[in-house]
This record gives sequence, structure tokens and C-alpha cells, in this order.
Amino acid sequence: MEWFFTSFPMVSTIFTVLALVGLLVVYLYGPYWGVRRVPGPPTIPFLGHLPLMAKYGPGVFSILAKQYGPIFRFHMGRQPLIIVADPELCKEVGIKKFKDIPNRSIPSPIKSSPLHQKGLFFTRDSRWSAMRNTILSVYQPSHLASLVPTMQTYIDSATQNFHDEEDITFSNLSLKLATDVIGQAAFGVDFGLSKPQSSNTDSVRNLGENVEVSDFISQHIYSTTQLKMDLTGSFSIIIGLLLPTLQEPFRQILKRIPGTMDWKVDRTNRILSSKLDEIVSKRMQEKNRGSKDFLSQILSARESQQESKNVFSPDYISAVTYEHLLAGSATTAFTLSSVVYLVAGHPEVAKKLLAEIDGFGPHDLVPTAHDLQNKFPYLDQVIKEAMRFYIVSPLVARETSKEVEIGGYLLPKGTWVWLALGVLAKDPKNFPEPDKFKPERFDPNCEEEKRRHPYALIPFGIGPRSCIGQKFSLQEIKLSLIHLYRKYTFQHSPSMEKPLQLEYGIVLNFKHGVKLRVTMRT
Ligand code: HEM
Repeated sequence: MEWFFTSFPMVSTIFTVLALVGLLVVYLYGPYWGVRRVPGPPTIPFLGHLPLMAKYGPGVFSILAKQYGPIFRFHMGRQPLIIVADPELCKEVGIKKFKDIPNRSIPSPIKSSPLHQKGLFFTRDSRWSAMRNTILSVYQPSHLASLVPTMQTYIDSATQNFHDEEDITFSNLSLKLATDVIGQAAFGVDFGLSKPQSSNTDSVRNLGENVEVSDFISQHIYSTTQLKMDLTGSFSIIIGLLLPTLQEPFRQILKRIPGTMDWKVDRTNRILSSKLDEIVSKRMQEKNRGSKDFLSQILSARESQQESKNVFSPDYISAVTYEHLLAGSATTAFTLSSVVYLVAGHPEVAKKLLAEIDGFGPHDLVPTAHDLQNKFPYLDQVIKEAMRFYIVSPLVARETSKEVEIGGYLLPKGTWVWLALGVLAKDPKNFPEPDKFKPERFDPNCEEEKRRHPYALIPFGIGPRSCIGQKFSLQEIKLSLIHLYRKYTFQHSPSMEKPLQLEYGIVLNFKHGVKLRVTMRT
């Protein structure tokens, strides 16, 4: 007894330590417990499978799919993801069981960015459906068709100054072009990025009196590129991957310490938000704002529909408009660059494509939206194959809202289910010789196309939550390619690295750019 009292402090310390270790184990393994029956490689505490990601890169999901089958577990730090790598199961998650899996999980980089959370991408449940319905009412085919001349103007001006035998970094040009087009379509603002240097000085600066376009864009690019999904993001993002409960407290502290990445990201996001709020409030006051751009249309829908008024408070309007810039620029630019890069490396494809484009009519005849959809079947195949070859979003996120069965496994409410579009696109079952660039595999008369599962290639996602900008971006990509190939052909520049290196941020990107040599067509 005496012993107990004399050693009480030591015993209580041991109990406290054991209790803390127990709590830590429960905290670390809690999310794993509910999905433990789903197969997957052994995990390392805190890091999960991040070391595998570091070792194999994004190809890790194809490697694991071969080993563990079409549904398996992958731990992003402490957070388990259920990876779905089969077209039929993707259909089940994205379409058949949509009402039980209607939202996206919010990854740690987005958690620390309130600006990115209020867009359509990350809003949830009834607010999401009300927002999506209003936005869909804006994306009528007639509205898209009316954007053709605007898109064409930017394409003309961006590509008018190429010289014969000139080397260009095409990916820079395509990002500027896509940002300009979406800037005009979303905000009604000419960012003037893709204009040839000489005429750049008079780019319209109507974002607001104190707002410089270039400043806005550089803040935008900084904010986008800091959304990293690996261990190179800000400290609070890294903590969020390893110990999510500590992310917000860390962010709150670090954002107050000048010089830290959290401080820079927070500052950038606040500047961006205030600039966007400024644009929105200015536009709200305008009586005759017209209906050409997305922002004006959303504001008008808000004024005429009570439901839209409730969901679209000014901060949400800023967020969805900004989201357009974010979602519509890097993705479209990447796709455009991939097509031109791949075609440059395949002269037989270039020849066939040029013949189709030349066969459409005189080179100054601008195709209509209807022409773009129906009169360029080979161009369609080339774009599909390029999107398969370099898929912009190799993973698409979802989260269960209640307990649901997928692929024979019962997944608890709150499980993160991610669709591995990148694994599907390189699966030899649906795409024989997956590492060959063969647009003909999408010819509607070809056996491979007829046999293929309808959801084997879904670069724009699947079901009610799929990409809202699909038609918009395809229209822009086709129009740009037709215009480019009417005037020029391209080869890889001697300074283009081989093999091509890619970078994996929130979307895929070219690490050192796409460098091409231009030849003028006579
Ligand atoms: C080549 C270009 C593009 C690609 C490859 C692409 C790809 C995607 C993908 C994979 C998703 C997720 C779908 C899912 O979860 O099932 C998505 C969603 C989305 N995209 Fe795109 N996108 C592109 C262009 C655009 C453009 C131009 C816009 C805007 C005008 C846009 C706006 C959005 C929005 C708002 C969502 C979220 C939809 C929702 O949650 O309801 N995207 N996109």
C-alpha cells in the first residue's frame, strides 16, 4: 500500500501516457477501421501510402489496381481513399448511387482556402443542386453558340504573329489564350494576356479602378499553383494530410507569421477575394449589364428567381465566377497543348487532320457551333485520344453521405471514394496498346470502339456532378485547332525534352512546357 502511494505520481504518468497513446492510435486508425475489409497495401502510421506515391509517382494507382483489383484502399496520410478503377464501378458511384454519394470530399489544400470552398466544386447537397441548376440555365446551347465569335477573336489575335521556323513555348500561349477566353466569358473582361506584345499596352483594364489585370492574374496563378496534393504545399496543408484536426489551428497561427507559405497563401486569397467582391458589387449596381458573360447572367438569374437569390449571396457569386477562371483555364490550355504536341510527333495523324480541316471550306470561313459538333469527326477522335493519353484529372473525388455498398464492400458514411479516371484510360482491356497515340481507336466503325465500355474514357467525369464546362471547352479547343492548322504546322522544337515530363498539381501540367517549331502553310 505504502508502495502505491509513494509511486502514485509515476503510475498516474504511465496511465496518462498509455491513455494518450491509445487516443492517438484510435485517432490514426479510426478512419481505417470502417474500410479495413477493402484490400490495399500495408500502411505506415501518419504517412499512409505517401511513400509509395513518392516512389512510383501518379502511376502508383495503375500498379496497385493490377495487384489489388478494381477497388482498393490508398491512404493519403491518415485519410483512407477508396480508389475505384473500373468503368462499371465508376458508373455505380457516379450515377446509380449518386443520391448516396452526391458530394466531393474536401482535400486538405482546399480546407485551408475558403475562397475555393464556395464554388460549385465543393459546395454540398441542396445548396449545390440549387447552384448547379441556376448555372445550367445559363449554359444553354444558344449561349454557347453566341460565344463562337468572341472565342475566334481571341484565337485570331493570339496566333497572328507566328513567324516561319520560329520556336515557341506553345503551352504558355495556350494558357494565356484560355485565360483570356474564360476571362471574357466569365467576367466580361479582356485580360489582354494573349495579345501580341505590341498591342498589349491598351488591354482593357476595367476590373475596377484600383485593380491591375496583371496583378489579379498573377495572384490567381499563385493561388492555383499553391494547391498542392503532396508534401510540398504549405505547412498547414502538410499537417492536414498527416493530422487533419491540427490543420486549422496551425493555419490560424501560421497565417499571422509573415514569410511563411501559409501567410503568403492567406494574403493572396484575401487580395483575390476582395478584388472579386469589388468586381461583383460593381456589376450588381450596373443597370444595363447585358447578358453576355457568366457573371452578368448569374446576377440576372439571382434577381429573377427567389431560389437563386437565397443560394447566391455575393460571396458565393464571387467564388463561382472565380472558379470558372480556375477550372476553365489550366484544363483547356493543357488539352490544347497536348493535342498539338502529340500531333506534332505523328505526321500521319497531322496529314489526315489537315485534309479534314482543309476540306471544310475556305480558310476564312469560321465554323458555327453546329459545324464544330458535326463536321470534324477525325478532329473529335484526335481530341479524345489526346485526352486519354494525357488525362487532365487522373482522379475525381467523391464522399459517401450514408452507408453504401460498392463493389461488394460496405462503406460507412463519410468514406472518401475516388474514381481513378487515369487508370481506366490506360487499361489495355479497353485500350489495346495504351501507350500508343492512335486516334482511329475512336472511329465509330472500329471494333475496338464498339467493344469498349461506355465509361472507359471519362475525362470530364461522370453523372450529375460531371464537368459543367465540357461543351464550352470542347468548342474552344476545336475552334483553336482548326484556326491553327489552317495557318501553320508544328514540329517538336530541338529544345523540347524527351521523354516529356509532367507535373502533378491539382491538374496535370507540362513541367518544362511544350516547345514547338512553327512552319507557315502556304
Ligand atoms: C478540357 C477541359 C476540362 C476538363 C478536362 C475538365 C474536367 C473536369 C472534371 C474531371 C471534373 C470533375 C467531374 C466529376 O467529379 O465527375 C470537372 C468538374 C467541373 N468543371 Fe471542368 N473540365 C474542363 C473545363 C472546364 C471549364 C471550361 C469550366 C468552366 C467553364 C469547368 C468547370 C467545372 C466545374 C464548375 C466543375 C464542378 C461541377 C460540379 O461539381 O457540379 N471545367 N471538370
